[in-house]
Amino acid sequence: MTEPLRLLVVCLGNICRSPMAEGALRARVVEAGLSDVVRIDSAGTGGWHAGDPPDPRAIATARRHGVDISGLRARKLQSQDFDRFDALLCADHANLRDVRALAPAGAPAALSLFMEWAGLEGAIPDPYEGGEADFERVWQQVDEGARVIVARLLTPDVSVASGTG
Ligand code: 4NP
Repeated sequence: MTEPLRLLVVCLGNICRSPMAEGALRARVVEAGLSDVVRIDSAGTGGWHAGDPPDPRAIATARRHGVDISGLRARKLQSQDFDRFDALLCADHANLRDVRALAPAGAPAALSLFMEWAGLEGAIPDPYEGGEADFERVWQQVDEGARVIVARLLTPDVSVASGTG
């Protein structure tokens, strides 16, 4: 059996965007029956919220869409993550820049924006200083990305493992 595809979603605090993306991706993976094929985790480039649950607004937004992310806990990105995951999928360009700067030389993981790796456009803006509508927009983006990633995994002859690099 082939090894599972290991995906790490990365944002700044790991309490808003990346736990929402982790929750959306896991939900779509489970729906598609791909739980044995894909492993999903998330982390933040900053460690201020390590150990914390997602922001209450992120939990409420995911819950409105039928996904429970309340059990997730924030953690800081570690150098071992570049070996443990096949792809680090960043919420925005600043996250991607920070991740690239932290990557050990020769690290095998693909480093990309989450949306671009899904084959879509755009960064996911930080909703932390925003309101409910900003969290809803994040959900719409990450769920669209999650659906596209899962659709591609279900399509024979299309490998997402290498992503866009
Ligand atoms: P996230 O949002 O990167 O989507 O988790 C943020 C959460 C916390 C902070 C910044 C962004 N913060 O500065 O504490």
